[in-house]
Amino acid sequence: MKAESQKTANSGQGIGPLILLGPPGGGKGTQAKRVVDRYGVPQVSTGDLLRDHVARRTELGGKAKAFMERGELVPDELLYGMVSERLEQSDAARGFILDGFPRTVAQAEWLDGWLADHSQVGRPLVINVEVGYNELIKRLTGRRSCPTCGRIYNVATNPPRVAEVCDVDGSRLVTRKDDREEVIAERLREYERQTLPLLDYYGGQGRLHEVDGSQPASEVAAAVQERIEHGDRV
Ligand code: AP5
Repeated sequence: MKAESQKTANSGQGIGPLILLGPPGGGKGTQAKRVVDRYGVPQVSTGDLLRDHVARRTELGGKAKAFMERGELVPDELLYGMVSERLEQSDAARGFILDGFPRTVAQAEWLDGWLADHSQVGRPLVINVEVGYNELIKRLTGRRSCPTCGRIYNVATNPPRVAEVCDVDGSRLVTRKDDREEVIAERLREYERQTLPLLDYYGGQGRLHEVDGSQPASEVAAAVQERIEHGDRV
């Protein structure tokens, strides 16, 4: 009963901005979807937004496509309009989960400016989901996702009930183009070069919370929830 009223109270208040950091395949998307289910705030995944632009063949999608297929980061200045447009939608007023953004120090500085201009959304909580290299390779090469509902599976750790078919809507599952081994290697190099410095950036601000992402997804989710409900927001 107490847990239920806590959940209701949190759902009503929203959770403010939550930034999920971590390497490719670390489980940011998996955890973001659980936070969406629990707290009712939207997941803002720059990877999903960019893939949608590519699929719709927008001007932005046309510029981003080649970078994504090589496993490189899309240039910072292409992202800001897309991100601010999404964060300003009404469903993000009680909070949002940033999954895959920021990924460079320049993006983090831009986001700090955006949050200062939109102080009503609250202070950000930053959670780093850390996973070792070998586990990341296993997770990325085994990932499948549903093109219709976005649900994420893994052939080894989280398979669908029927092979290659989504449990929720029966769609044929797909493998992301950038989950080929040679592209994965470049994504991990980009992460080390460009995104790891964010740990110092947010650590220096006293905002960083660490979670061991190598645990089973339900245990990672419990640790994330604990940080959301009890972590300091400075
Ligand atoms: P993006 O889509 O953001 O990809 P990513 O960061 O590489 O992250 P992933 O989506 O691969 O992994 P994830 O951490 O979400 O893991 P998941 O939950 O799926 O970006 C793609 C591209 O877009 C970039 O390369 C870049 O080009 C561009 N881009 C995006 N944002 C950008 C930005 N801000 N700036 C510039 N460019 C940008 O899990 C992975 C697998 O593991 C799944 O199969 C899952 O079932 C399994 N799994 C998850 N958790 C567990 C667990 N605890 N135990 C066992 N298995 C698990």
